[in-house]
Amino acid sequence: MSEVILSGIRATGRLHFGNFIGAVRHFVDFQKPGNQCFYFIADLHTLTTLKDPNELRKNLREIVKDYLAAGLNPENCTIYAQSSIPELSELSLLLSMLQPLGELQNIPTFKELVRRNPDQVSLGLITYPVLMAADILGPRTTLVPVGSDQVPNVELARDLARRFNDRFGDSTFVIPRMMERMDRVPGLDGEKMGKSDAANAIGMDTPPEQIRRLYLSKGQTDPLRIKRTDPGDPHNRCRGIYPIHSLVTEGEFKSLSIARKCIAAEISCVECKNLVADSVIRILAPFQERRRELADKDAYVTEILHEGGKKARVAIAETTSILRDKMGIVVY
Ligand code: ADP
Ligand code: TRP
Repeated sequence: MSEVILSGIRATGRLHFGNFIGAVRHFVDFQKPGNQCFYFIADLHTLTTLKDPNELRKNLREIVKDYLAAGLNPENCTIYAQSSIPELSELSLLLSMLQPLGELQNIPTFKELVRRNPDQVSLGLITYPVLMAADILGPRTTLVPVGSDQVPNVELARDLARRFNDRFGDSTFVIPRMMERMDRVPGLDGEKMGKSDAANAIGMDTPPEQIRRLYLSKGQTDPLRIKRTDPGDPHNRCRGIYPIHSLVTEGEFKSLSIARKCIAAEISCVECKNLVADSVIRILAPFQERRRELADKDAYVTEILHEGGKKARVAIAETTSILRDKMGIVVY
């Protein structure tokens, strides 16, 4: 079946291993004949948290290079900056008319941000998921590859599409789906790996010896496994290491056999961390090599963003004009 695939990443910093496993490796796999892929940098969404304009400009371009090094090919997908498509802001405004405020206030990530910083809740932050719905519905996306943390946001986009169809005509939107399996990659301390917590993340550019050192020194294993002979509980108590095995470890040391050995105290936490480091280093090696070659390809990045922006804009402008029309807005 041919699909319209779309996903975006905020320009909050360079990509980390969690972005790659949860999202970008799927972006790469979906570039197949018959699929139309839209991958963008969500620079407008970044404005909800990042305050330094120079950093935003720089991060955006670095992420394009990360996309390319990960295997995105501008011949097979459309790469663009969200802000290059002014129609997205209009689409977001039109969709916001159908969005109950209470639902936005109930999204767990929003509630958590309000709890942490009650005086910094902007209107842009509360409407974040509506702009995300515009991103998704703009090119009439059928599948959104994201990590598991984004499920509530994509659900909201699906609800908005259904609500629009109910009010203004069934066939306006196809309801976009998510992948059957979505991942959450833990950082070294077992919390979600994220760009905002550099001490917890393995960057896509972290050199192999540093990856090993970080896992060995900071990787969080079962805190109740004190002696080598203590049986471990990989599934419930090992928050920073075993979940990575279950995502990336292949071959002889399949994750289930590692779990069995941990429970039987036949493998030490140090051995286990070394195996995780081996897998992560192996997965990152081709990326790191390609990324070095792209370091000074700035003109190429500009060209990709320019061409991608033009192409995405055509698809999104068409949807915006359909919505305007269905909602009774006339352009004079
Ligand atoms: P971050 O959370 O690091 O700021 P983004 O919010 O821009 O990164 O996320 C970009 C994509 O990467 C999203 O699809 C998100 O679900 C995915 N992602 C981010 N962190 C992780 C993680 N630790 N595990 C799995 N997927 C992740
Ligand atoms: N909110 C997403 C994140 O933090 C980024 C994003 C913006 C996105 N618009 C999107 C992801 C549309 C998928 C589809 O990761």
